[in-house]
Amino acid sequence: MIQVKKLSKTYRKNTKNPVPALKDINFQIPEGDVIGIVGTSGSGKSTLLNILGGLDREYDGEVLIEQKDIKKYDQNIYRRKMVGTVFQQFNLLGTLTVLENVLVPITFGKQMPKAQSIERAKNLLSRVGLGDRMHHKPNELSGGQMQRVAIARGLIAGPRILLADEPTGNLDSKTGEEIMELLKELNKEEGMTLLIVTHDSELVESLEHKIYLRDGEVLEEKK
Ligand SMILES: Nc1ncnc2c1ncn2[C@@H]1O[C@H](COP(=O)(O)OP(=O)(O)O)[C@@H](O)[C@H]1O
Ligand SMILES: [Mg+2]
Repeated sequence: MIQVKKLSKTYRKNTKNPVPALKDINFQIPEGDVIGIVGTSGSGKSTLLNILGGLDREYDGEVLIEQKDIKKYDQNIYRRKMVGTVFQQFNLLGTLTVLENVLVPITFGKQMPKAQSIERAKNLLSRVGLGDRMHHKPNELSGGQMQRVAIARGLIAGPRILLADEPTGNLDSKTGEEIMELLKELNKEEGMTLLIVTHDSELVESLEHKIYLRDGEVLEEKK
């Protein structure tokens, strides 16, 4: 269970121009569920994901995973093992091959023996449909394929949570739907909790659990 309790975040907090980005957010997500977080630009979606992803620890309120405050985890371990992230811009490294990109998150951690990590990376790449592209460079791939690489990379360490920030934002609608289907399929197979953030309410139409944000507040929750 992920529990978000009274979560507030204000940028430039002690200045003349504070920017309140999240205001008293509360929600819970059972482990393994898929949740859509919908809001227009500026509603606080990325701010929320940065906090859940362990990148930003300057906030008020609490985020608990299995009853444990995420601030109590070692930040590096939390970011390497607990969460994986997929971004709108894919953020692949152009000089590395597809396989090397997928391995990046576990290169410094020594979580897995090398042969085992390569096996897992190859397995994930086959599952996202890129078994035959492992030694290609990102610039030889389409946008949809690049996002598939990024998804495999997000899952390489076996995270409990996968955070997807506008994962289809740079894709045409058909490719976007395929990426959504792939994410849902991997959620079933891998069992990680999946958070999909988007400004496009149609994209998450099919999800049972949705949270609508507006100006940093939860406008509505459907489940
Ligand atoms: N580093 C920052 N410093 C100051 N204000 C910020 C910063 N990052 C985001 N904001 C502001 O916080 C609000 C929420 O932004 P963000 O979380 O990026 O929204 P979204 O991802 O939904 O578009 C916006 O008003 C934005 O301008
Ligand atoms: Mg954003």
